[in-house]
This record gives sequence, structure tokens and C-alpha cells, in this order.
Amino acid sequence: MNSSDQAGKARGRFITFEGIDGAGKSTHIGFITEYLKRAGKTVVSSREPGGTPLGEKLRDLLLHEKMHLETEALLMFASRREHIAQVIEPALARGDWVLSDRFTDASFAYQGGGRGMDRAKMEGLEQWVHPHLQPDLTLLFDVPLEVARARLDATRTLDKFEQEEADFFARCRNEYLRRAAASPERIVVIDSTQSIDDVREALLSALEKLD
Ligand code: TYD
Repeated sequence: MNSSDQAGKARGRFITFEGIDGAGKSTHIGFITEYLKRAGKTVVSSREPGGTPLGEKLRDLLLHEKMHLETEALLMFASRREHIAQVIEPALARGDWVLSDRFTDASFAYQGGGRGMDRAKMEGLEQWVHPHLQPDLTLLFDVPLEVARARLDATRTLDKFEQEEADFFARCRNEYLRRAAASPERIVVIDSTQSIDDVREALLSALEKLD
């Protein structure tokens, strides 16, 4: 990923933000965006599902309609395919830094861990949709389930995923942590029960690895 494109321009960096609902990632994405801008980077902030006009329509369906598990996984990857083609790859080729609120780790955690979709099928979709692209850095915001649930209940009207039971989120969290243990060079686990200042410090030290 840190190679150069055909014009010889330095390729940008791709950072993703993950964690179960209520883990607190949204609070910190703005902080990192501002930090990188101050450091002179051109930052493209995006999200999944979504990130393109078509992806946002798919997001609306995904967050509010009940559907078969495999339909859900396929639509997540359909949104992702569009996002990569329209936003992520062009931005990285320009040398921009792309920050995405969720990416493929969320599919493994939610459709795989949470809903129980076969991991080999998920890996097949990943290979199909982005065989040569992985985030340079994934920040995984981690909190115990009770903390996440309390944060959700305090702040919002719940969507389809947020209405799931505790054991669903326990499976999502376990899958996130399993993936982090399997790819420690890419996925940095951030203890999101810490104070905001301590989380920020952990984020900055994770970012240093990208220079
Ligand atoms: P989220 O990113 O938490 O947005 P908000 O903060 O606005 O609620 O919501 C997206 C939801 O989509 C979240 O519950 C996780 C789910 N999701 C999947 O199940 N699979 C995926 O591949 C992605 C990208 C998201």
C-alpha cells in the first residue's frame, strides 16, 4: 500500500475505524481528521456502508430493512465495491489520506461473528471485492458490552443493528478481537474505556507507525 502510483506520486494512506456500536469511535474520528489536516495531509473522510450516492441508498436499506443474512453481506460488499472504485482508490492514487468509518473488518465482525455467516464465504467476498487493498492501519475501539450499551441508550434512536441483543454484540466483539490478534501489525486495539485524553494519546502513537 505504501508504494507509488504510475505517475510516481506517493500513494496516500488508508485508515479504518472499527468497534461495536457504542464503542465511541465517532468521537475520535473528528480528532484524527483535524490532527492530520494540521499536519498538512489532504484527508478524505468516508463511511461504510455508504460513502457514495449509491452506497448511501444501500446503507438506508441495510440499517432499516430485515433481509436474509447473505443478502446483507452481499449488499455490504456491493456498497464497498462502489466505495473503493469511486472514492478510496482515486483518493489514494492522488496521495490523499482516506479515513473510513468501518470497512471489511465490520463485515467479518457483524455478518460473520454476529450473524454467523460462514467465514470462508466472507473471505471469498473480500478476495473478490478488494484482493489487493487492505487498510494501512485499523483502529479498533474496544469496550465491554455494558459500557457500549449504556452509551447507545443514552445517545440515540437505535437502528436495526443497534437493536440486537447482548450476545450478538459479544460475538461481534470476539470476532473483532480475534482479527486484531491475527493481524497485530495492522489492527491496533484502543481501550475506549479510558479518558478521552488517554484515548487520544493512544491514537497518536498508533498513527506514528504510518510515517
Ligand atoms: P455505524 O457505523 O455504527 O454508524 P452510526 O454511528 O451512524 O450508527 O453503523 C453502521 C452499522 O452497520 C453498524 O451497526 C455496523 C453495521 N455494519 C455491518 O454490519 N457490516 C459491515 O460490513 C459494515 C460496514 C457495517
